[in-house]
Amino acid sequence: MPSVFIKTYGCQMNERDSEAVAAQLVAKGYTLAPSETVADVVLLNTCSVRDFAEKKAIGKMQNLAADVRKNRPNVVLGFMGCMAQSRGQELIDKLPDVDLVLGTQKFHHAADYLDEILTGHRDKIVDVAAESGSEATIREHLLYGNIARNGDGHRPPLQITAYVSIMQGCNQRCTFCIVPDTRGEERSRSIPDIVAECRQLVSQGVKEITLLGQIVTSYGKRGGSSREPENFLPSTLDARPSTTKTPFVQLLEAVHEIEGLQRIRFTSPHPKGYGDDLIEAYARLPKLVESAHLPVQSGSDRVLKLMHRGYTRERFLGLIKKLRRARPDIGITTDIIVGFPGETEDDFELTLSLAREVEFDNAYLFKYSPRRDTPAAEMPDQVPLKIREERNHRLLETINEIGKRKYDAFVGRRTQILVEGPSRKNPARMTGRTRCNKIVVFEGSERHRGQLLDVKITRAGSFTLYGDPAILGED
Ligand code: 5AD
Repeated sequence: MPSVFIKTYGCQMNERDSEAVAAQLVAKGYTLAPSETVADVVLLNTCSVRDFAEKKAIGKMQNLAADVRKNRPNVVLGFMGCMAQSRGQELIDKLPDVDLVLGTQKFHHAADYLDEILTGHRDKIVDVAAESGSEATIREHLLYGNIARNGDGHRPPLQITAYVSIMQGCNQRCTFCIVPDTRGEERSRSIPDIVAECRQLVSQGVKEITLLGQIVTSYGKRGGSSREPENFLPSTLDARPSTTKTPFVQLLEAVHEIEGLQRIRFTSPHPKGYGDDLIEAYARLPKLVESAHLPVQSGSDRVLKLMHRGYTRERFLGLIKKLRRARPDIGITTDIIVGFPGETEDDFELTLSLAREVEFDNAYLFKYSPRRDTPAAEMPDQVPLKIREERNHRLLETINEIGKRKYDAFVGRRTQILVEGPSRKNPARMTGRTRCNKIVVFEGSERHRGQLLDVKITRAGSFTLYGDPAILGED
């Protein structure tokens, strides 16, 4: 059977989609190739959020066509995901070596399409059509990588944590964002369907689940494969009328009931949809860890309005206050765009001051990148690249300085981590994650994988903590 290599660009949703495609192919007998140079099929799962992400994937494909194809003419090359969706046929016109262009609602057809190409039944395939029900097809996992079963049928899971896709698409129409075009309208899976997937993962050794969606706070609000409202209700309801809780909080409650599951995370919420019921859920559901990724995008009300974000600086700050009241140790991260069209120095200063006021644990900074067919791309007063770069640099310094203070404050403290596996940078060491989503590296061994450990933090590096193995106490 052929081997496949999937390279993933972009967000956790993309990572999850790649995993689902890999699992689908493995189920059909494919092996996972260790690199693109030896694979029979190379797929690039692409991101369109910024021009830079698209350029990287296109450059990579050009290299693949020049190097890999030259030595092995039969290798199959494909684009999938967001850029595949937004550019479609245009990608093959530009790069004739590409055999497959698979849109964001078509991942579940990967095996069939590759089969048609590998057997010579079809030459090129482009499928970027919308497909109803596709949100419920991202469900297969690859918990064991390439590891075969032992004689007794048992395999140790490689993955202690798993992503579960709960919805697809976005209806927010932020003026800078291409995602509504690449991911389509919001469509949610049903609670029973998601819970069944989570249960299955937990029965296979997964301890922590991250619920994924473009805007998880909009979960269940619109359409999808389960239009019936009762499908969204958890199996057992407490005494409160469900109408006071959003479907997302109902989903959290249902997942929370799964025995053996230790931790629940989710990403990304929209500040606009972050209601009191969700804040209250943090105080009430112990498995929901004290961590929130809340994209703020800007600290200026004027810019937030131009962006169509639907909240003000004050409302965002109020939300942070409430979250910290519910869980004082909560780790809060964000996304910020610098140099949005019309952003003045004063607007940018407001973003700097917001970052200082909130004291984010970390922030992902994005230089504004005009995207096709988005309103912001046509707005006046586009900010020159030089200024975008300069602001990015200044904000990064602030974020790093705050982050360092926050991480340093952990030194000397005991904290619980869930051990995920060997450190990527140094496989001789193990890594785990605190409940507030900080990575902790320590001198552990394979036997710690999957355990909840209390570690004492001895040192803080750049957005990494180090734990002392001498004072490891196992739960
Ligand atoms: N330019 C720069 N950053 C963007 N993002 C989304 N669209 C753009 C764009 N056109 C950022 C936002 C979002 C993150 C995933 O990507 O900050 O939260």
